[in-house]
Amino acid sequence: MDLDWSNLTFSYRPTSFHIEYHWKDGKWDNGELKDKPFITLSIAAECLHYGQAAFEGLKAYRGEDGKIRVFREEMNATRLFNSAERTCMAPVPVELFCEAVDRVVKANEEWIPPYGTGATLYIRPLLLGTGPQIGVAPATEYTFIVMVVPVGAYYKGGLQAVKACIVDDYDRAAPRGTGNVKLAGNYAASLLSHEMAHKNGYAVDLYLDAAQHKYVEEFGSSNFIAITKDGKYVTPASRSVLPSITNNGLQQVAKDLGIEVEVRPIDFEKEIGTFAEVAACGTAVVITPVNEIVRLSTGEHFKISDSQGCGPVCQKLYDAYTGIQWGKAPDTHGWLKVID
Ligand SMILES: Cc1ncc(COP(=O)(O)O)c(C=O)c1O
Repeated sequence: MDLDWSNLTFSYRPTSFHIEYHWKDGKWDNGELKDKPFITLSIAAECLHYGQAAFEGLKAYRGEDGKIRVFREEMNATRLFNSAERTCMAPVPVELFCEAVDRVVKANEEWIPPYGTGATLYIRPLLLGTGPQIGVAPATEYTFIVMVVPVGAYYKGGLQAVKACIVDDYDRAAPRGTGNVKLAGNYAASLLSHEMAHKNGYAVDLYLDAAQHKYVEEFGSSNFIAITKDGKYVTPASRSVLPSITNNGLQQVAKDLGIEVEVRPIDFEKEIGTFAEVAACGTAVVITPVNEIVRLSTGEHFKISDSQGCGPVCQKLYDAYTGIQWGKAPDTHGWLKVID
């Protein structure tokens, strides 16, 4: 494959195959690799009208040894299972999810970027209610797709800090809503504040809890983590935040490095001054340092750091975590599966 691997962006391009499974009459079929990047849908498909749609995001890495490794696919499988249960969709069993990922990664081997370019194969599983439905009720048929796309390293010359803003006018997720699962509709609901943030020159939008706008929740498409001035890793406890697999892994890496981890409510106004480092974390970028947060509704600026790069603790976490992903550091927690 003749691609400028080192300069890929995070954008869609068709690859050789996606895999498609169908659920009907209580069971999943055996799945089929398809070489055309389209599906045929009923105009009455449930996902189009009533939003029965959930997705995942994970990656495969080509190591220096040439081996292909998929990172923590069971975690994504479990999260999709939870998304399905929350929205009355036919859940995809964990084993079927992992089989689908393996099959589609192997089928697209030529699209897995070479080691040393920083690029990876992004894997996007998608579960849709595809049965036709006019009255509001769960669909009677489902489609599970896994597509892949090669994506570039987000930061070329080291981690760069960004500014975040709080958009108080809109909430991402209600306290007992669907924020803790990865539904397509959550992202539709957050697009307007995302656009407002971008138009105002902020790379990321930060949400506070919907009930009081007091406690930190998460960024539009990543979790919130902070390192306190006394060296602890803190991240919000909230049932309306998406359980980030990156955050989960970074917490483990932090503990491995002897850093204390606290998962608890974070009062934004009270605690923001106690943080030495703030970052957004997620699969796409791993860690995005945040050096300033601006509250658009009041115009207040909360400076975290003068640095345009990454704070020392987040850098250490990033290096340790990505070292495991690339197969350079020992996989002591069994996070990687080699695809033969
Ligand atoms: C709302 C939201 N929070 C957090 C994350 C980070 O999750 P993960 O680390 O599993 O990619 C994502 C991305 O998937 C997200 O969309």
